[in-house]
Amino acid sequence: MDNYDKVFEQNKEWVEKTTSSDPDFFKKIYEGQNPDYLYIGCSDSRVPANEITGLDIGDLFVHRNIANQVPPNDLSSHSVLQYAIEILKVKHILVCGHYGCGGVHEAMQPHSYGELDNWLRNIRDVYRMHFDELDSIKNEEDKYDRLVELNTFEQCVNIIKTSQFQQSYIKNKGPIVHACIWDMRTGFLKDLNFQLEKELKQVQKVYNLTENKF
Ligand code: CO
Repeated sequence: MDNYDKVFEQNKEWVEKTTSSDPDFFKKIYEGQNPDYLYIGCSDSRVPANEITGLDIGDLFVHRNIANQVPPNDLSSHSVLQYAIEILKVKHILVCGHYGCGGVHEAMQPHSYGELDNWLRNIRDVYRMHFDELDSIKNEEDKYDRLVELNTFEQCVNIIKTSQFQQSYIKNKGPIVHACIWDMRTGFLKDLNFQLEKELKQVQKVYNLTENKF
């Protein structure tokens, strides 16, 4: 059996296994979703959102791209963000980076990756913003780990810069934004302690988008 056929065989087995323990499972999930969490993570095949959080189908609204980014000109991540905040009214937003992230590693290299440069540019900007701290780290792996953390942190800042987030937060005191890192060397998730209130206050000195002009 080649790899593509395998997918359908395994799907059939999964459907059989799922319906044998809960015959109405698919009928129930078809009725709608009400997830508490938006997860923004990396596309990396080794970082599966539901498995590492232990959350089930329907618990997690997911957006994944290279190096878990939320850049301001990215229609996809911002549409997901708006839908999660305004329609699903999620309680938590988890931005989840991971050590060993290829996107972050590539962004640290001083050469071109063609079209991918535009995407890596956002991570390189994070590198530039924190250049002194990163440059002072002499061990390459430690520096790489730290850029993974700073990139994840910065994406949380990108989220709280948006009008959708700020206007929701004023009304509902939520969602709560969290930065976390998945360490694939151990399997454990680590919270980076993103200080939402403090960061929001700082961000709103420049990006206060709580009121609409029009
Ligand atoms: Co990655």
